[in-house]
Amino acid sequence: MIDSNKSIDSPLNPFKLAESLSEYWSPKVISEVDDAYVKVAKLKGSFVWHQHDNEDELFYILQGSLVMEYKDKQVSLQVGDLHVVPKGILHNPVASVDCLVMLIESKATLHTGGNIQSSGCSIEEQLKSFNSV
Ligand code: NI
Repeated sequence: MIDSNKSIDSPLNPFKLAESLSEYWSPKVISEVDDAYVKVAKLKGSFVWHQHDNEDELFYILQGSLVMEYKDKQVSLQVGDLHVVPKGILHNPVASVDCLVMLIESKATLHTGGNIQSSGCSIEEQLKSFNSV
């Protein structure tokens, strides 16, 4: 799949890879760890309320800030902060300014939890190499 993922010759720089993204809300896979993908994404504005029934979702903020909205609270995330959305919990990420994130998600995780397909970004899209972005 991704050439760099299989290389042990050079490090990956998630920040630089995220910075090179041109589309918002369109995560790209940069590596994999056993049953999980490591992704980067560029976020701005409000995404969509969704949940992942069987998978947790890790967010690590590389640039900007992000508010994770839950039905009963909000979690404000700054650069360097890490947050895990627990499986089965409704959430909506909101970025008031450009936000670059690294995500770690089970390979089984659908972008919107599978409940709002039209807003999701297919895994085929997410696996496209950076060369073609
Ligand atoms: Ni999610």
